[in-house]
Amino acid sequence: MSDRYPVLDSVDALLVGATGRTPLDAPGKSGAVLDRVTIDGASYVVKYLDHEGDWSLRAAGVPGSSTVALWRRGILAALPDEIVQPIVAVAHDRERPTLAAVLMDDVAETLVPAVDDPITIEQNDRFLDHMAAVHVAFWDTDLDIDVVTPTDRYLELSPRMAAAEAALGSDHLVPRLVAQGWPLLETVAPKAAAIVVPLVHDPAPLVNALAATPSTLIHGNWKLDNLGTDSEGRTVLLDWETPGRGAATADLAWYLAINCRRLPVSKEQAIATYRAALERRGIDTAPWWDTQIGLSLLGALVQFGWEKAFSGYDDELVWWEQRAIEGAALLA
Ligand SMILES: Nc1ncnc2c1ncn2[C@@H]1O[C@H](COP(=O)(O)OP(=O)(O)O)[C@@H](O)[C@H]1O
Ligand SMILES: [Mg+2]
Repeated sequence: MSDRYPVLDSVDALLVGATGRTPLDAPGKSGAVLDRVTIDGASYVVKYLDHEGDWSLRAAGVPGSSTVALWRRGILAALPDEIVQPIVAVAHDRERPTLAAVLMDDVAETLVPAVDDPITIEQNDRFLDHMAAVHVAFWDTDLDIDVVTPTDRYLELSPRMAAAEAALGSDHLVPRLVAQGWPLLETVAPKAAAIVVPLVHDPAPLVNALAATPSTLIHGNWKLDNLGTDSEGRTVLLDWETPGRGAATADLAWYLAINCRRLPVSKEQAIATYRAALERRGIDTAPWWDTQIGLSLLGALVQFGWEKAFSGYDDELVWWEQRAIEGAALLA
């Protein structure tokens, strides 16, 4: 395994022959530094996964980073044909174990532009279809897909994370907003807060209830800034930092919550599109669907309640509050 998917032992080894290093001005929120470089005339992007500078890596809590774990275990190589993941080499620095880095093909031309416009219905349908393709590919996998746990995924944007970051003296924007947003939710949407705030302190009832439904490999961050479409219609998927075993519909719920302003169809329609894609690929969803989607939609507000609070009690938050109330009836 280690020979097939080698992990280099220094960032320097990853960058042999690299010239013209320039910082990438990109929409990421993790604090990660990215550079564009040229190697043998081709353009690449290097992402430094540095636990000292990146709150999202600290929150995920995987030594050496999840991306390196996925690479080492052959999981990135086992993705279905619908997906392009651009990583071509990875390093975990022997001298500085808190530092890893990945070398990627430069896929800038394929990425969804970082603007406010909705994406097209066609592209949205394709993303949902390809999301289902990933889930189905790992439905009964023999690979070790336990990387980030569902519990850590539900704690990623929690008061605990914000407090840990504050204690480190980190001044990243997202942890500061998370710290402000959770108390804000209690005044903006008290009914929603009464359900999700206890869960963002202890997600066990949610995680345990989901554990009675099927699991597969989930990516954990199907945000439009992490997505693209290549010239053959395949989906480019970046930013593999919160992957692991989880409920397939948790990826879907995250997609609906984080991309809400740019979706070209209703959430109900997107959910139906995704479910049909699972069924088309041979998954019988009937036995578990209602339970899992109900819990996952509640779970998305456990991840984004802090963020939804900032826009006030609008249609978006009302929709999620309804889902939280319904989902609460399904808790373990
Ligand atoms: N391989 C790549 N080719 C071109 N652009 C990239 C590549 N990887 C990342 N980027 C750009 O950098 C941004 C941040 O990278 P990402 O891995 O998503 O970091 P973060 O964890 O900060 O979100 C992406 O949204 C994308 O615009
Ligand atoms: Mg990203």
